[in-house]
Amino acid sequence: MTHQYPCLTPEQKKELATIAQRIVASGKGILAADESVGTMGKRLQKINVENTEENRRCFRDILFSADASIADSIGGVIFFHETLYQKSDKGVLFPQVIKQKGIVVGIKVRCLSGSDCHEHFPLGLDGLSERCAQYKKDGCDFAKWRCVLKISDGCPSALAIAENANVLARYASICQQNGLVPIVEPEILPDGDHDLQRCQYVTEKVLAAVYKALSDHHVYLEGTLLKPNMVTAGHSCPKKFTPEQVGMATVTALSRTVPAAVPGICFLSGGQSEEEASLNLNAINQTPLNRPWKLTFSYGRALQASALAAWQGKAGNKQAAQEAFCTRAKINSLASKGEYKPTGLADKSATQSLYTASYVY
Ligand code: 13P
Repeated sequence: MTHQYPCLTPEQKKELATIAQRIVASGKGILAADESVGTMGKRLQKINVENTEENRRCFRDILFSADASIADSIGGVIFFHETLYQKSDKGVLFPQVIKQKGIVVGIKVRCLSGSDCHEHFPLGLDGLSERCAQYKKDGCDFAKWRCVLKISDGCPSALAIAENANVLARYASICQQNGLVPIVEPEILPDGDHDLQRCQYVTEKVLAAVYKALSDHHVYLEGTLLKPNMVTAGHSCPKKFTPEQVGMATVTALSRTVPAAVPGICFLSGGQSEEEASLNLNAINQTPLNRPWKLTFSYGRALQASALAAWQGKAGNKQAAQEAFCTRAKINSLASKGEYKPTGLADKSATQSLYTASYVY
């Protein structure tokens, strides 16, 4: 018989639950701006901008110095380590710029992963507690750790599911002890030709294992957020599914596996176009099923693509890029309440697929 593990005080629990609820307050989601140097380079390359520290800072400045009303749609921003210590054009540290808007600052904690038989296995958590403690001092209140699973013959293996669930649970426990709300992200990649049902089945197996592991590791669920994939067919599946079908499969999978104590589920966009990610989120929030959690967004590509396209690395385009970012944020805010009514006038960059095979972040 296990005993109750007394690892968090009531005050610590209260702080964690309050942070999590602020991030996913009604109409709010997360901006994932945590692209590593290499990933940001690929984004900049598409608009012929060199991958220098200054250019990365400039683009983040565009996002972070957007109009204060952005806080109506964005409850949290996930930073990459480098960005946490950079300053805005006005000389203010980026975490301060975000906090002044009333938005919560988060950090991607380094996820080393190794591959075995083309599956991904996380490496050690050495030093994570010390890094979390430092990030808390440097202004962060939440963290993200991404584990990756894929669907193909024999994948994900039972071993990959168990190992990834376990490491996510250990990471979550370490975060909570250091005052950071852990975003638990078991991402099932969209690569492959599997259909919607297969993705739903695998998503249920993966999430069931994650919540068993979180329980085993005494993680306080009210002080966590989940960042899953939506249930979609594989990128090369010949059959196409409607947002309503995606919504129904996604909410069914979540209702079978995610406890109601979890305050929010913030989907990644996973290579969907901006518009597709918004329409699917909207449909998810219109499914006629019980939804005890906030169902919102934590998008990287699907919040930044049209802003990047509008920017083109030119200072004179800053305002246009900010407007593009605010437009997507507002649309996703509406979608997080099931209130988005598309006009059919989405611009070209909003409807372009953002898919990359075997995506790394
Ligand atoms: P995308 O929305 O671009 O999939 O990324 C979100 C994220 O943070 C993945 O870890």
